[in-house]
Amino acid sequence: MKQKIFITGGAGCLGTSIIDKYIITNCEILVLDNFATGKRENLPALSNLKVVEGSVVNADLVNQLVKEFLPTIVINSAAAYKDPSNWIEDAETNIIGSINIAKACLEHGVQKIINFQTALNYGRPDVTPIPITAPSKPFTSYGISKTAGEHYLLNSGLNVVSLRLANICGPRLAIGPIPTFYTRLKDGKNCFCSDSLRDFLDMEDFLDLLDTILHNNFPAGAYNVSTGIGSSIKEVFDEVVAHLNINAPEVPIVPVGTDDVREVVLDASYTEKIFSWKAKYNFKQTIKRQLEWYDKFGVTDIYSHLASSKQ
Ligand SMILES: NC(=O)c1ccc[n+]([C@@H]2O[C@H](COP(=O)([O-])OP(=O)(O)OC[C@H]3O[C@@H](n4cnc5c(N)ncnc54)[C@H](O)[C@@H]3O)[C@@H](O)[C@H]2O)c1
Repeated sequence: MKQKIFITGGAGCLGTSIIDKYIITNCEILVLDNFATGKRENLPALSNLKVVEGSVVNADLVNQLVKEFLPTIVINSAAAYKDPSNWIEDAETNIIGSINIAKACLEHGVQKIINFQTALNYGRPDVTPIPITAPSKPFTSYGISKTAGEHYLLNSGLNVVSLRLANICGPRLAIGPIPTFYTRLKDGKNCFCSDSLRDFLDMEDFLDLLDTILHNNFPAGAYNVSTGIGSSIKEVFDEVVAHLNINAPEVPIVPVGTDDVREVVLDASYTEKIFSWKAKYNFKQTIKRQLEWYDKFGVTDIYSHLASSKQ
């Protein structure tokens, strides 16, 4: 059957990589995006891609798009996070938006949704790598609202696979330490490293998993998507310094901010078993591929859901 994919937030980092992969196949794609952090110019002008500028918060619009397009699958990639003090915007996009998608799918018989969730859903975990069974303990606006949205979707009665994602690296990455260090070091500016560990997953590995999910039926539920291996922010810094071939400047290691989590490393063993999938790229390869992408295309934006990240 011809795939008809409705991607909310399709102009963003993950959405555009998904589109780049699938638009060349025999499928139709519909994007709904308000361009809060995504960009229209990152979407190719092709006859099998329709782009609607608007918000998932608009229930009538979401309903009408689902009714008319009748997707075989919805990928919920829209998220608000760029202003950590804007709780209303986060709640509207991440909660009301998810509700609008679930309601429209229920009304028009669309069964399958893939949702993207943040690892901040786990808050400050008791155990790392964080198992999929760990409790939800979000404490930031982004984490709280994304968690509520995920709960609505997972309990909607629809076939929802919610992917709890590590730090995905790939084209147009505009969040986190890699674009920050790359830009600041190139500009000769000072940096600091938070004393934390993250789990970096290559976009190609993420897309491999997505491909398996798109073309098969799997049990609904939440799945961690990661390498399972933590690397420190200082290690990222060192990779960027080596890549830029500059003299390593002094870099303070500072405690994580009050709105941050020290160790975000996800245990993906359940996901690996269910989907017969495993990340192929290691930390150094992933960071190198990311930096090579920036060499070619540059860093256009840097966003953060952390108030404490402002350098
Ligand atoms: N990239 C990662 O490593 C990562 C990690 C964890 C979770 N996620 C989740 O994956 C999804 C995609 O993330 P991303 O990295 O591509 O971020 P992104 O900011 O690049 O993409 C999000 C997109 O949603 C759009 N958007 C925001 N509010 C909207 C609204 N009200 N209506 C319609 N569109 C709206 C933005 O303009 C943007 O294009 C998000 O749900 C995010 O929470 C991503």
